[in-house]
Amino acid sequence: MSVSREQVLKELGIAPVWRLRQQPASAASAMTETGGDDRRSRILQMDWAQLKEAVANCTGCELHKTRTQGVPGVGDESADWLVIGEAPGADEDAQGEPFVGQAGRLLDAMLAAIGLARGDNVYIANVLKSRPPGNRNPAPEEIAACMPYLERQVQLIQPKIILALGRFAAQTLLDTEEAIGRLRGRVHHYQGIPLVVTYHPAYLLRNLPDKEKAWEDLCLAQQTMAKLK
Ligand code: URA
Repeated sequence: MSVSREQVLKELGIAPVWRLRQQPASAASAMTETGGDDRRSRILQMDWAQLKEAVANCTGCELHKTRTQGVPGVGDESADWLVIGEAPGADEDAQGEPFVGQAGRLLDAMLAAIGLARGDNVYIANVLKSRPPGNRNPAPEEIAACMPYLERQVQLIQPKIILALGRFAAQTLLDTEEAIGRLRGRVHHYQGIPLVVTYHPAYLLRNLPDKEKAWEDLCLAQQTMAKLK
């Protein structure tokens, strides 16, 4: 199977995706236009209903102009497991639920492999709540504008473990530019919560041999959870 250079770079984590501390001028101005710290503080005080409404009506970045709808997340709002992907694709944008396309079916199978099911002690969210047009990579200013929603979701859910799917989720949550291949295989922490990194299901659909590594990651997550109990 041929894999494009862009796909390889994307999954190997060659290009930095997220540097809030080193935001370019455009990102800084996006935060200012959308209220910056004030906006973040407001979001960090929201309850679930307010958060869902805010995502539905969000104009915090340019993506609201092209999306069909905001996609806040789906599942058990007090789940032990929080699964975090990158951004809604076309199917998710149309249906308003994360991971409902082909990658979503693989994610469901991955969850089933460790005895989990969507909605049952599992919450699924994305770093971005709005679809980037043509499924392009999230831009730093879009991530900066959207991250408070995910921060608040983590606070509300209080998961025992986070599974980060793919480079964008992993690098964003861990605030690192380290390649995904180096991030997987060990337990990290986000806001004090154990976090395990694995490949994005869309990547695995194109790189079948890496499913074996994803299985190892799922086992690591499962063992980490078992130790917490
Ligand atoms: N890819 C993601 O990262 N998230 C989705 O919701 C769908 C595809």
